[in-house]
Order: sequence, then structure tokens, then C-alpha cells
Amino acid sequence: MDGNPLQKQFEMLLQKENQGYAGLDHSLASIFGAVLVSSVQVTKPAVTDFAMLNRVQELEEQIVKLKNCQSPMLSRPMSTMALAPNPLRLDPYLSRSLEINPGQLITKEVISQGGFSIVYKGVYKGTDVAVKQIFDPNITDDLLDQVATEIQSLAMLRHPHIIQIMGIVSPPQTLSILTEYMPLTLFQILHKSQVSLKDEQRVSIARQLAKALLYIHLSAYVHRDIKTHNILLDHRYNLKLCDFGLTTLQESTNKGLNQFWGTPSYMAPELLQKKPYDNKIDVFAFGNVLYELFERSLPWDGT
Ligand SMILES: Nc1ncnc2c1ncn2[C@@H]1O[C@H](COP(=O)(O)OP(=O)(O)O)[C@@H](O)[C@H]1O
Ligand SMILES: [Mg+2]
Repeated sequence: MDGNPLQKQFEMLLQKENQGYAGLDHSLASIFGAVLVSSVQVTKPAVTDFAMLNRVQELEEQIVKLKNCQSPMLSRPMSTMALAPNPLRLDPYLSRSLEINPGQLITKEVISQGGFSIVYKGVYKGTDVAVKQIFDPNITDDLLDQVATEIQSLAMLRHPHIIQIMGIVSPPQTLSILTEYMPLTLFQILHKSQVSLKDEQRVSIARQLAKALLYIHLSAYVHRDIKTHNILLDHRYNLKLCDFGLTTLQESTNKGLNQFWGTPSYMAPELLQKKPYDNKIDVFAFGNVLYELFERSLPWDGT
């Protein structure tokens, strides 16, 4: 304040109001509905306005209390916090960190309808999301396990070219997975539009997909459903891989499991022959996507 031409006027104002700096804090507190911790030394008002004095004292006590107390959430030991019932049998810490308040989610138009799920466009906390809702009314334990695996894989695999999980709604009637929203799929671009991709764009798409796959494989997972429907893009052709519903840990495929899952026209021969397989089935499907990217058709129909 020293040397400030407004200092005199300011002091006169405070004198006139007869409140001092504490009065100023009080006025600001009532404007913002909060207690302000002023760095200025609080001066007691010179007047004998007892109501005012009491109020100032009250505020000072509140400041001391606020300074001394911790947030109740932070001081509560983690282990005693109540856990929501968890039909997905997810790790409780994962479940707690992903569960969202459905009241904050607005669902809009349907993007896609699959065998057991519907994907909606939605808005969560002001942000565009895709909401994959499992609609099977007779939800089986197998389906619940599959959804749990999808959630776990998405939560584990954090990468610029893998879709980001935003949250889950776990009660079975509204079981949903929220992911960040992407406006296009590679399938739509190649087969439902007239857009002609430049060679640099095709190479960029292939490279981004390769990076996502490398990351998945080095994390010991196999995606098992690489196809253009599951390759999401934005308008600048930034790529994010989605649909981790069939994803599994590599170790389970090495045991010679021979599930017949996936989409035939992208399936490697060992899968079609129901033989043991490993992460090379994703590389085979990647080869098919490369072909499709340049030819706008599939090299074979899987029959
Ligand atoms: N995050 C997303 N943003 C935009 N569209 C999405 C997103 N996730 C999925 N979709 C759309 O929904 C379709 C189905 O989702 P997906 O996870 O692949 O489920 P499904 O198991 O039914 O194949 C995708 O092919 C894509 O068109
Ligand atoms: Mg899919």
C-alpha cells in the first residue's frame, strides 16, 4: 500500500465504515459465502458494536477450526470404507475408482447394437462418452466375467492408441462401460463413405494400430478381435482401438485353449482349426486390416 495514491481514500473508507480489516474480511466472507484467511493482521473494530464483535470472533474461531481439521474423506482409513456390492467380482479398489454416479450421465442416441450390448453416445460431466450398456436381461455369470475382463483390460492398458475407460455402472440392470467418445470407425470410412485416404493417412493409421498392438502384446495380453469395426478414429485420423470384450492374458492361450471366438474373416488359420494359439492371431488380423486399408475389401471371407 505504501506510496499508493489510493491509500488515503482507502483508509478513510475503512474509518468511515468503522470496521477495520476484520470488517473487510467479514464483508468478503458474506459475499463469497466462505471464510477468507486473510494475510493481513486482523484489527479489532474500534466501535462497541457487540453483534459485529461476536460475528468477527465467530469467524476467527471458524478459521482456527478449519486450519486444524482435515478433510473427513482423507482422515477416514481406506479399509473401513463401505464397498458397493460388486456383481462383477472386480478388484474392490478398481471397482471403487471406476464406479460413477449414473445421475451425472446423460445418454443420447444409439451408436451401435451388438449381440448383448448397445452402445450409446452420452455426456458425462460435460464430456462426450460412449456408453456400452449390457442389455441381456438373463445376464449369466459368464457374461459378467467377460464384462469384468473387458473393464480390467481397459483399466490396465493405458496407451495413446487404446480407448480410455472413463467409468463403469455396475448394478446388473444398468451394467455399462463408459469410454471416451470417438466419432468414426475405420469400417465406416472404408466401407460406408466415399472418403479417399491418402497414402500417408493409410500409413499413419497402420502405424498407430501397430503401436497399440505392440503395447498390448508387451503387456502380455492378446486382443483377439482386431477388425475395422473396433478401430476408432477422430476427424484427424487419430486412432484408438476399442472392444476389449475378447481380450485375454496371453498365458491362458498358451495352455492350448481353443475357444472359437472372433470374426471369421479376420481369424488366423490356427483359430479356425481350433488349435492352440498365441498373440500372433492379432498380427494375422492386423495383416487383414492392412489389406483392407489399401483395397477397401477383405482378402477372404473366412469360409
Ligand atoms: N468409444 C467409442 N466411441 C465411439 N464409438 C464407439 C466407442 N466404442 C464403441 N463404439 C461403437 O460401438 C460399436 C460396438 O462397440 P464394441 O465395444 O466394439 O462392442 P461389441 O462387443 O458390440 O462389438 C463399435 O464398433 C463402434 O462403432
Ligand atoms: Mg466390436
